[in-house]
Amino acid sequence: MTATGGLVDRFGRTATDLRVSLTDKCNLRCTYCMPAEGLDWLPSDKLLSNDEIVRLVQVAVTRLGVHEVRFTGGEPLVRRGVLDIVERCAALEPRPQLSITTNALGLARMAAPLADAGLDRVNVSLDTVRQDTFLKLTLRDRLHDVIAGLAAADAAGLRPVKVNAVLMRGVNDDQAPELLRWCLERGYELRFIEQMPLDAQHGWRRDEMVTAAEILDMLSREFDLTDAEEPRGSAPAELFSVNGGPATVGVIASVTRPFCGDCDRVRLTADGQVRNCLFATDESDLRLALRAGATDEEIADRWRAAVAPKLPGHGIDDVTFLQPSRPMSAIGG
Ligand code: 5AD
Ligand code: SF4
Repeated sequence: MTATGGLVDRFGRTATDLRVSLTDKCNLRCTYCMPAEGLDWLPSDKLLSNDEIVRLVQVAVTRLGVHEVRFTGGEPLVRRGVLDIVERCAALEPRPQLSITTNALGLARMAAPLADAGLDRVNVSLDTVRQDTFLKLTLRDRLHDVIAGLAAADAAGLRPVKVNAVLMRGVNDDQAPELLRWCLERGYELRFIEQMPLDAQHGWRRDEMVTAAEILDMLSREFDLTDAEEPRGSAPAELFSVNGGPATVGVIASVTRPFCGDCDRVRLTADGQVRNCLFATDESDLRLALRAGATDEEIADRWRAAVAPKLPGHGIDDVTFLQPSRPMSAIGG
């Protein structure tokens, strides 16, 4: 364990991008994430309070070199206090970049206040622009709310507005070009994400997954895609210029072309556990330390120790792969 410095692991990767899950609850039921009946939500005494979240973000920013903070869920906008948390994180020195990953229900109402509170950007999850497919995929008839939320984010200056899409075989895998066209018309940046084994129901099958290669193939039939010039760096999306640019489309090949070697992320769950990887099977408890009166430096030390043993990769394609016991909604995206 290093006594000072950032969140460095034994392979020399440094985590500077912190994902904070504000709640494990959600108001949609995307089939690749949650069962229809929902999950056993975390009990409220285990959830970090607003003060505790801001304290941990402050430790990360002031002592551990974190400079980007993304709020996730579940659905982060269902947490009361999200505005307060954003506002207080925006007041930290040095000020981190602040973004949110949301399903956009409630964003029509929240986009302007979030921007006023200091939020810089949003990523909206949207897998289809057809009402019947939306209902089939999320089990809620709320497509119009998402569309209104996207427009409000754009109007509030939370740009570039990014859209994340997951394609599910037999559900929306015929809709990639249509979704791209829809996003291009509105100036939203679309990225497709390969479905990962993170659903609570453990229904993921490698041979059913729609691969990045397939997605690019489908898009190439309708659009002229060329490698976008900017270097990929630690950003997981491979970017392509569409019809000569400047518009781009991204493909995040988490499974078929993992980017673990360049990973700069670390995660904090809504109940105060550090996870050094989405697929980690271990967590480190910061909530307990926090509530036992640990100093900032003691918390920083625990955090460094949690990141140090990060594994080189997720190993989804290995026969020994074990899906993490907590689903995506409890880890944060
Ligand atoms: N595989 C890939 N992406 C997922 N997301 C949720 N579950 C999965 C999964 N199993 C996406 C959501 C959202 C972000 C948090 O991650 O659609 O965009
Ligand atoms: Fe909710 Fe996101 Fe899971 Fe969909 S993927 S059910 S929006 S947490």
